[in-house]
Amino acid sequence: MARDPGRVLIFDTTLRDGEQSPGASLNLEEKLAIAQQLARLGVDVIEAGFPFASQGDFAAVHRIAEQVGIGEGPIICGLARASEKDIKTCSDAIAPAKNKRIHTFIATSDIHLKHKLKKSREEVLYIVPEMVGYAKSLVEDVEFSCEDAGRSDPEFLYEVIELAISAGASTINIPDTVGYSTPSEFGELINGINKKVPNIDEAILSVHGHNDLGLAVANFLEAIKNGARQLECTINGIGERAGNAALEELVMGLHVRRRYFNQFFGRATDSPTPLTAIRTEELTKTSRLVSNLTGMVVQPNKAIVGANAFAHESGIHQDGVLKNRLTYEIIDARTVGLTDNRISLGKLSGRSAVRARLEELGYDLNREDLNEAFARFKDLADRKRDITDRDLEAIVSEQVQQPEASYQLRLVQVSCGNSLKPTATVTIADKDGNEKSTAAVGTGPVDAVCIAINDLAGEQNELIEFSVKSVTEGIDAMGEVTIRLRRNGKLYSGHSADTDVVVAAAQAFINALNRLLAGEASLSIHPQKDVLTTEGANAGV
Ligand code: KIV
Ligand code: ZN
Repeated sequence: MARDPGRVLIFDTTLRDGEQSPGASLNLEEKLAIAQQLARLGVDVIEAGFPFASQGDFAAVHRIAEQVGIGEGPIICGLARASEKDIKTCSDAIAPAKNKRIHTFIATSDIHLKHKLKKSREEVLYIVPEMVGYAKSLVEDVEFSCEDAGRSDPEFLYEVIELAISAGASTINIPDTVGYSTPSEFGELINGINKKVPNIDEAILSVHGHNDLGLAVANFLEAIKNGARQLECTINGIGERAGNAALEELVMGLHVRRRYFNQFFGRATDSPTPLTAIRTEELTKTSRLVSNLTGMVVQPNKAIVGANAFAHESGIHQDGVLKNRLTYEIIDARTVGLTDNRISLGKLSGRSAVRARLEELGYDLNREDLNEAFARFKDLADRKRDITDRDLEAIVSEQVQQPEASYQLRLVQVSCGNSLKPTATVTIADKDGNEKSTAAVGTGPVDAVCIAINDLAGEQNELIEFSVKSVTEGIDAMGEVTIRLRRNGKLYSGHSADTDVVVAAAQAFINALNRLLAGEASLSIHPQKDVLTTEGANAGV
């Protein structure tokens, strides 16, 4: 049986596999904000990125290693293909972290070997110990993944895994890369590895899975029953295609059904010891931060973090819940940090009150960021009577979207109505502060604003998503707008909140445009789609 840490380790890959979702790319400040929140959430490992992809990715992993990988913080991990250059770059990026890990991988399924890597099984058997050994010479903690393990020949997997462990891998990860497995098959695969790999007791068994058939979480729970002790997952389940296994669902599954899962850890059924180290009260906040910064809106009926997850609409259910919550509720909303959205501040609140509330909410801002947050708070307080925690979160999450902005919104004004042609006047400023203004007519006020901004920036793109939702209840609530733009087949998102939805839309559009310009300026390699060239895994052959 694989090494057992006695509980489940949570390996969060929101910043690596999650960020590979179309349109979810994040800037350095945003990645840092998410990494800091993941540390507060209590994840064991943060996969901070794929450092070889670009200078931007390298810089983000390095910064996270420096600022989050300190003290009792999580292990900071970087992904590297099985190539010397990838591995060395990864090792340099994670260097500042106290606890660091290199995660290296190569595909093992015949489909991937033949069509993607164009390599034989023999070549893979040569590369794996070479590259794992090389990674081990740079850091103590090495994880090895067999990409597309779910469709690999198990006998071949056993051989590869044995070699990886002998070369120094202390975590072996089994990805269901294309989300093809069913729970019983995936459980069997883990069981087989545990039984057939002779040195498996020297490594922790980990699982990684995609949600193409909606089975990722179920597959992981089955894997735990068969000895997996590390789960690779993302906040809100974001990731390639249909996404990855959702962290919040796994954690709450293990929390709510602890009595059932305890037996697989050799514990008494009623053992109260948590099965993960996650602070569940941080789940809602983490989900909102990731959704706001990536522009990946959470569906209302999403388990644990969807807007409806704790709402009881039908009269029968409401009646039952009022008599006894247990009738229709298996989770107390407070367990996941869903509070009563308590009113915290108002027009007369001072800077220290705002700072104190932000600190309570987990936002430790530097002087400059606090000044900006306070100015935005004051502006909002002029328009909205009570400022809630959700409002404050919306203000702060927007701030981190801005740093390398190409354009700033200076003015937006619209005229519209049932007898008017919707017209927008917009002023934007470039990096040097040069302002330009124009007016445009559209099918509606938001359309007019977007046309005006595009005219000013001179950028062609396609608006493919526009969504508005209210941050809190009440007529003076802020509206949160998410916008997704497409150019050259790539998606870019922007998010903003304001009591005026047209202003929020204009700002969200500018945020998306800034991201588009920054994204196009930095060429980035995809870790899984690129064939390993002579710069890659061939290096060792
Ligand atoms: O899905 C996958 O196989 C991956 C690996 C790189 C771990 O993301
Ligand atoms: Zn993946």
